[in-house]
Amino acid sequence: MIILGPPGSGKGTRAQLIGKIFGIPVITTGDMLRESVAKGTHRGKIAKGYMERGELVPDDIVIGVVEERLKRSDIEGGFILDGFPRNLRQAQALDRILNEKGEELDYVLNVTAKPSTIINRLSLRRSCPRCGAVYHLKDKPPKNDEICDECGTKLIQRSDDKEEVIRHRLQVYEAETRPLLEMYGNLGKVREISGELSIDDIPEAIKRALA
Ligand code: AP5
Repeated sequence: MIILGPPGSGKGTRAQLIGKIFGIPVITTGDMLRESVAKGTHRGKIAKGYMERGELVPDDIVIGVVEERLKRSDIEGGFILDGFPRNLRQAQALDRILNEKGEELDYVLNVTAKPSTIINRLSLRRSCPRCGAVYHLKDKPPKNDEICDECGTKLIQRSDDKEEVIRHRLQVYEAETRPLLEMYGNLGKVREISGELSIDDIPEAIKRALA
C-alpha cells in the first residue's frame, strides 16, 4: 500500500496506525533520509540541502534507498510506503521493483487536508530525534514537556517545518506528486481518507476505506 498526501496531512500518523492494525512494516523515505543525514553517510550528505530547502531528493538516491529496503524479508506479508513514490519516475521504479518480485500494488490511500490544517500541524509538530516518535503540541502532546514518552529524549522541531519551507514543500507536492493520483485513480487503486479527522477516529476510518 502507498500512502499519498500533501506534507503535514497526517500520512505518517496514519501509516503507523495502519501498520499496527495489519501488523505490517511502514517504510518512510523521509525518516530513512533523515537517518542518513544524521549519520553523515554519502547519501545523507547529498540529501541534506534538498531536504532543508523542501525540494525532492534526487530520484536515484531515493529509489536506491527503497530498493534496498524492499530486499528485507519482513515485507513478505505486505508493507506500507509512506512518502514514496513522489513523482512519475519513482512510480515507474516502484512498478519495476514490484514486477520483479511478482507483487502488485493493492491500494493507494490518499490523505486530504486544508492548507490551514497543514500549517497548524507542521508548526506544532515535534519529533524524537532518537526513536522517530511524532507528537503535536496541542493534539497529541507528550506527557512531559517536550520529552519523548517512548525513550525520554528531548523533542525537536524538524528543520523543514519553517513556514517558508512548508509553503515550498506544498508547491513541490502540487507539481510533482499530485499528478500520481490521476494515474493510480485510472487503475482503480485510490481510496480517500480525510486528514481532518481527530486521531481517535482514524482507525475506524481506515477500516472503512479499506473494507
Ligand atoms: P517527509 O518526511 O516524507 O515529509 P512530508 O511528506 O512533507 O510529510 P510530513 O512528514 O511533513 O507530514 P505527514 O503527512 O507524514 O504528517 P504527520 O503524520 O507527521 O519528507 C521530508 C523530505 O524528505 C522531503 O521534503 C524531501 O526532501 C525528502 N523526501 C522524502 N521522500 C522523498 C522521495 N520519495 N523523493 C524525494 N525526496 C523525498 O502529521 C503532522 C503533524 O500533525 C504531527 O504533529 C501529528 O501528530 C499531527 N497530526 C496528524 N494527524 C492528526 C490529526 N488527525 N489530528 C491532529 N493532529 C494530527
